[in-house]
Amino acid sequence: MKVPNHIAIILDGNGRWAKAKGMPRGYGHIKGCANLETICDDIKDLGVKYLTVYAFSTENWKRSREEVEGLMKLFRSYLKKCMKSAEKNHMRVKIIGDPSAFAPDIQDKIRQLEEFSKDYDELYFQIALNYGSRDEITRGMRRMAQDAAEGKLIPAQITEETIEGYLDTAGVPDPDLLIRTSGELRISNFLLWQIAYAELIFTPVAWPDFDEEQLNACIDEFSMRDRRYGGVKA
Ligand code: FPP
Repeated sequence: MKVPNHIAIILDGNGRWAKAKGMPRGYGHIKGCANLETICDDIKDLGVKYLTVYAFSTENWKRSREEVEGLMKLFRSYLKKCMKSAEKNHMRVKIIGDPSAFAPDIQDKIRQLEEFSKDYDELYFQIALNYGSRDEITRGMRRMAQDAAEGKLIPAQITEETIEGYLDTAGVPDPDLLIRTSGELRISNFLLWQIAYAELIFTPVAWPDFDEEQLNACIDEFSMRDRRYGGVKA
């Protein structure tokens, strides 16, 4: 079985999952958050080296105040708990996206987690928070233009690698497999540059129900596809 080097997941369907059970949307996010911890362990055990998850988009601020506040509460407790997972799984954690919109204590927790886990190298876990791919590219291109204006960069010498170096994911290999749960057939502004050659799998299963069996089924399907580009270990 070919195991992807880098799996990216759009964690979708918490709200619908909760609604189907007659519960508030926040309950779905709590279950989704718990599931993320489990799947992280499973992914590490499979020997996958990079995992990137879409947990909060630049668009998600438009949700109700109650839901956004619930998610912020969840991020606070998760970022703290994640230190233990990082230690257990020897996992380096990096937040991608623009953290400046979060409350100062959340920004502190992000910095602490990244600093605490920076020397672990068995799993590299990127959590996209206040992330949008167009926003990432815009922020990166602003910095690139600034460097060019300051003479640090010659425009004619800009390559794809130069651009990659200005993205939040700089230094991280592109995803080989992108999974979106809960039936939507969209990319929703996630890693637009980085998924150029990724295999895409859309599963109807809602994120809180996406378990080890579902994960293995996705990897089996990935294994059977004939990939022309992108590196993956045999
Ligand atoms: C999509 O489900 C999910 C989110 C907007 C939030 C994802 C958050 C988690 C999985 C939990 C927290 C994660 C971390 C890193 C602490 P949805 O609400 O869009 O579901 P719906 O499409 O059914 O409404």
